[in-house]
Amino acid sequence: MKNNINKLPEGFLWGGATAANQCEGGYLEGNKGLSTVDVIPIGKDRFPVGVGKLKMIECDENHYYPSHEAIDFYHHYKEDIALFAEMGFKCFRLSLSWARIFPNGDDAQPNEEGLKFYDDVFDECLKHGIEPLVTITHFDVPMNLVKTIGSWRSRKMVGHYERLCEVIFNRYKNKVKYWLTFNEINMLLHLPFIGAGLIFEEGENEEAIKYQAAHNQLIASAKATKIAHAINPEFKIGCMLAAGNTYANTSAPEDVWKSMEKDRENYFFIDVQSRGEYPCYAKKMLERMDINLEMEEEDEKLLKENTVDFISFSYYASRLTSADPKVNAGTEGNVFATLRNPYLKASEWGWQIDPLGLRITMNAMYDRYQKPLFIVENGLGAVDIQDDNGYVEDDYRIEYLREHIKAMKDAVNEDGIELMGYTPWGCIDLVSASTGEMKKRYGFIYVDKDNEGNGTLKRTKKKSFDWYKKVIASNGESLE
Ligand code: BG6
Repeated sequence: MKNNINKLPEGFLWGGATAANQCEGGYLEGNKGLSTVDVIPIGKDRFPVGVGKLKMIECDENHYYPSHEAIDFYHHYKEDIALFAEMGFKCFRLSLSWARIFPNGDDAQPNEEGLKFYDDVFDECLKHGIEPLVTITHFDVPMNLVKTIGSWRSRKMVGHYERLCEVIFNRYKNKVKYWLTFNEINMLLHLPFIGAGLIFEEGENEEAIKYQAAHNQLIASAKATKIAHAINPEFKIGCMLAAGNTYANTSAPEDVWKSMEKDRENYFFIDVQSRGEYPCYAKKMLERMDINLEMEEEDEKLLKENTVDFISFSYYASRLTSADPKVNAGTEGNVFATLRNPYLKASEWGWQIDPLGLRITMNAMYDRYQKPLFIVENGLGAVDIQDDNGYVEDDYRIEYLREHIKAMKDAVNEDGIELMGYTPWGCIDLVSASTGEMKKRYGFIYVDKDNEGNGTLKRTKKKSFDWYKKVIASNGESLE
């Protein structure tokens, strides 16, 4: 039987994605505690803080911290969700701010005001027929846990995370079905403070700390999966990878080997979360690095018995590497090291645009895990210029999304991949995670706010808003 290559499955979850730390604002409102993201400034100190080299555990007067107000979703959520509904969203990906629910992370009781806020947000979604997809932690840890136990370097974090999960799974069991345990879990290797609240002291073995933190998160993720399925067997739990396959710079086998190693650095996490055990290459790598992970007796069984139901991922770009250190030298210091691929164009922030790379990445992951996939981030960060009426003609964004949706449809219809949904990143403009800028915009909805924090916060539909509305209404058939 021939497939209609234009069709996507019935019930495909079209939508958009955000994260609490980049859109909520209200950073101390409703009894919320301070989060890691709240002490990450914009400007030259952002990267050193983000990688855990510059210790910033409080806010000071000399910096501007974009998360404090962000786009003030905290007060605008009704208006924003109504706009998502107008676009026809079936699904809205958002994250919970841990410190809104447990202000210090280790409080005896959760903060009712924080829990109530998310009740209201979910109710608003459900009122519009929008399925919430909830990331339990997206780049945010209560600062108190950083100060008292060093965040994810400590096994004690698992207990605090478990507690959070018990509370939210019970509270929202009739409102939320889809959960992701950790956003871009592999990010902790690249941005350890942003990804896992890690701050390093001079002379520490950073690799050992990162992999221990990774182990602790992997255990926390397995425990969350276990608790979730016990509380509501209907829950679907996903892992989340910052994906994008790494190509070899040349056909030299050394380059090909290097690209495989690079991919394994990322797959390592999902191999554990999806297959339930440390892969042999990771065990050998840790041995070579002389890293002895502290594990508990129950860990192996726990990982084996509590694998995820689906694999979610972000995809913005593919990557390119070489075995020759001289060739690779220029890539150091980037979040994801990559060479410039001469066959691809790049965004204004240098992210290389590769729609076919999405199909390649999806195939690689589906071959590896054989579990349903979910694209929970994709999109183009660009400078948008408003005309006199505030309208943005973002044809470049439409073009990017159109080509990626085509590639995604090919992966489904030509390659047979099971795909649950597509939630492009920053469906409404929000703060950039890597740079802290507002100028790097992804949204279908423009938010009047600049890098310095000025602006009315007014929301305005962009050209892509109506385009995406048609895409959703036609279940992906109409992309023009
Ligand atoms: C992913 C994150 O890394 O990419 C998001 O999950 C982030 O939090 C997104 O915002 C886009 O990156 P950036 O740096 O352009 O905001």
